[in-house]
Amino acid sequence: MTYALILAAGKGTRMKTEIPKCAYPILKKPMISYIVEKLEQTNNVDEIICVVGYKKEVFYDLLQQKVTFAVQEQQLGTANAVLSAKDVLKNKKGSTIIVPGDVPLMSVKLTDKIINTHNAAGNDLTAVTMIVDNPKGYGRILRDDEGNVERIVEDKDATYAEKQIREVNTGVYVVNNEYLFEVLKEVKSENQKKEYYLTDIINLMYGKYKVGSFVVRDVQQVMGVNDLYQISLAEKFLREEINKNHMINGVYMVNPETITIGYDVSIEPGVTILPNTTITGKSVIKTGTVVGPNTEIHESEIHENVTVKHSLIYDSTIMEKSTVGPFAHLRENAIIGIANRIGNFVEVKNSQTGHDTKAAHLSYIGDSSVGSRVNFGCGSITVNYDGISKHKTNIGDDVFIGCNVNMIAPLNISNNVFIAAGSTVTKDIPEGSLAIARGKQVNKVDYYTHLIKPKPEKGE
Ligand code: UD1
Ligand code: CA
Repeated sequence: MTYALILAAGKGTRMKTEIPKCAYPILKKPMISYIVEKLEQTNNVDEIICVVGYKKEVFYDLLQQKVTFAVQEQQLGTANAVLSAKDVLKNKKGSTIIVPGDVPLMSVKLTDKIINTHNAAGNDLTAVTMIVDNPKGYGRILRDDEGNVERIVEDKDATYAEKQIREVNTGVYVVNNEYLFEVLKEVKSENQKKEYYLTDIINLMYGKYKVGSFVVRDVQQVMGVNDLYQISLAEKFLREEINKNHMINGVYMVNPETITIGYDVSIEPGVTILPNTTITGKSVIKTGTVVGPNTEIHESEIHENVTVKHSLIYDSTIMEKSTVGPFAHLRENAIIGIANRIGNFVEVKNSQTGHDTKAAHLSYIGDSSVGSRVNFGCGSITVNYDGISKHKTNIGDDVFIGCNVNMIAPLNISNNVFIAAGSTVTKDIPEGSLAIARGKQVNKVDYYTHLIKPKPEKGE
């Protein structure tokens, strides 16, 4: 059996953020979720255990039933973190792959390869290393004359000569469970940070057990994240990977360096994405659709042949052939029907529309059910909030709403209705009616000349 142990109890002091480091998002998805999902996908791992401590509730919420939790009460170092999982792991025969919760980009393929190599070599411990240009911050790998890994020295404890070593510890190890807990007892905290270092198990096992190593070539996959600058590096790497895959798959991206696509977004071939666009969450974009420029889409579904430009779309759906924007805002379950036009400065919230409906300029449609072929005139709005609660507006098919109409909810507007511009509608409108609800115009003839006396002519 092979187990996976994720270390995520640390505060992440170097992050200087409220959110604990391992839950910090990369492309709007928490780091720890990448790790857990990839471990779930490997052929080798039978159970995932996650060590939590600092702000542990955040991790309970994120991971729920996906992992077995172990709690590290005090953050005394990575060796102590592993020790916190003793009760869960010690009687389980087999080996464990230890993964730091701040190494988020290790692929399924690489994880499988590491475990397979460990098993094939018959190792008791495999240390996963990499060779980097700038080893600062990482533990350095010290090898003996025969090239075997003998010891790891942390950056803070390294001598000047040791600091020059460019082979570093990724923090990933595969280790025999039984031996792991045997040697963990011997780890001491005699170092610069006064912490119990997991790296010490290498030297404790060296010579006694079979210690091997696995050198990762694609170093980006095992980069550690300790601060917000490294978050940006991880994001950059992941963004380029994701964009490349979409482009190869038939998605046309203009100026892809400015385009951010989340890990779980699905985009069909035949989609065009224009600059400064971000699409995240489990969004889906279907073929023939053009998104951007300057658009943000989160957790939304955009169907075929839609155009969305300069707009914000959150938790919403846009059906085929509709156009949205510029400067539209769809949020909280806006469902836009087929061939709609949602134009400039239009906000739609928690509402659905039928087909061929238009709100071309300056409208608010909230908590509404709107039929087909409805025309919202410029400035028309559903007044859904009375200061205490939200109310619903129902609008039938073939309704023409004039400019600057206020529809005060709760309100039912039947089919085939015409509402005169400037109306404030407070009563339901029956089918086939023209509704006018505004003050009557009065023209005071000659008023201008009476009020404004003619100016005396010059010289008089
Ligand atoms: C660690 C390694 C270092 C390696 C680097 C790779 C040690 C002592 N050092 O250093 O050799 O090059 O990772 O990225 O292991 N954690 C806990 N409880 C604790 C302390 C840490 O759960 O008491 C968790 C953290 O949440 C984090 C992980 O362990 O996810 C690594 O801790 P971190 O402090 O980031 O270690 P590094 O200094 O990066
Ligand atoms: Ca780290």
